[in-house]
Amino acid sequence: MIVLGIETSCDETAVGIVEIGDDQNCRLLANVVATSIDLHTVYGGVVPEIAARSHIEYMMPVVKEALQTAFGKELDSDPWDQVDAIAVTYGAGLGGSLLVGVMTARTLAIVKDKPLYGINHVEAHVYANFLSPPAPQFPLLALIVSGGHTQLAVFQGHFDYKLLGITRDDAVGEAFDKVAKILGLPYPGGPSVSAAAEKGDANKYSFTKPKMDGYDFSFSGLKTAVLRLAQKEIGEDFTFPSFKIAERLSEDQKNDIAASFQRVAIEILVDKTVTAYEEYQPASVVIAGGVAASGELRRQLSERVPIDIAYPDFKLCTDNGAMVAALGCFKLLLGQPAADPYSLDINPNLKM
Ligand code: KG4
Ligand code: ZN
Repeated sequence: MIVLGIETSCDETAVGIVEIGDDQNCRLLANVVATSIDLHTVYGGVVPEIAARSHIEYMMPVVKEALQTAFGKELDSDPWDQVDAIAVTYGAGLGGSLLVGVMTARTLAIVKDKPLYGINHVEAHVYANFLSPPAPQFPLLALIVSGGHTQLAVFQGHFDYKLLGITRDDAVGEAFDKVAKILGLPYPGGPSVSAAAEKGDANKYSFTKPKMDGYDFSFSGLKTAVLRLAQKEIGEDFTFPSFKIAERLSEDQKNDIAASFQRVAIEILVDKTVTAYEEYQPASVVIAGGVAASGELRRQLSERVPIDIAYPDFKLCTDNGAMVAALGCFKLLLGQPAADPYSLDINPNLKM
């Protein structure tokens, strides 16, 4: 069975096509991503109106390119004959962005007469792991880390999960993005902080880790600690505006702050993951979401979690349509109810 997945929750217009066999193994047939990131970089963050307008422009060309990649130009029949279902992210995300994907998927489902599955974006991130063999085994411990989410969940089977903890304030990706802004590094902050951190000394500065009960996370204190440190480094007090700090920091200071922040931010994630591993003894541990691209996260996890972790491809960590299609494949194969293409609505605040 073959599912086409559409993802437009933020600034990526993405379509993936995935095939699933009776053995429940997934095969990636296409993964096309058009991003409007360059249009947002000048503003230091995603501008919702610009993202939504870009989705309208890119949506159908991306659908066409995905079909062409999956089924080739030679195919003389309609490529849609090959597609068994359509899956689409309906939340969480930016309202205007989600609307473009959902309306496109609803229209295609009606016109092409395909079942339609509404997909939770955060859950889809976990399914990127089913696209890189070997497939994870249940019970599965998932650390989900993106620009909008930071959470730990245990899956006993498909669609059967328990949320262990979430962030009480900022998401970890958001903390990377905010620290990048303080240091004058380009958006998105994750990759640029990582790159600066490689040239810095991770033990130069020490930051205290938040004391959170259970499996909940917190990152806003760490972000503020970085701000205070940066102000102190240039000899100013807490009233000094954050956007004027970077020009007075040396390259070395920026690199050392980036490295020290990154080490602690990732330790906070890995500490809780190790505790959850010990409590739940999962057969597999997976990481999901944009921050799963972090080399430091992979390094610390591999060092401290006693089982092998099969990390997803970098291009499947950040937002993409293939992860949406992969979750759609399991919904279709395992007989989950399809959505009504005449009424599926967006839910910008959808929770796992
Ligand atoms: O999952 P994603 O593409 O979008 C959301 O659903 O939020 O995640 C984007 C987030 C951004 O905050 C970005 O800074 C972060 O992932 N990110 C990273 C890295 N690459 C992307 N954070 C740390 N290290 C990275 N290498
Ligand atoms: Zn995401």
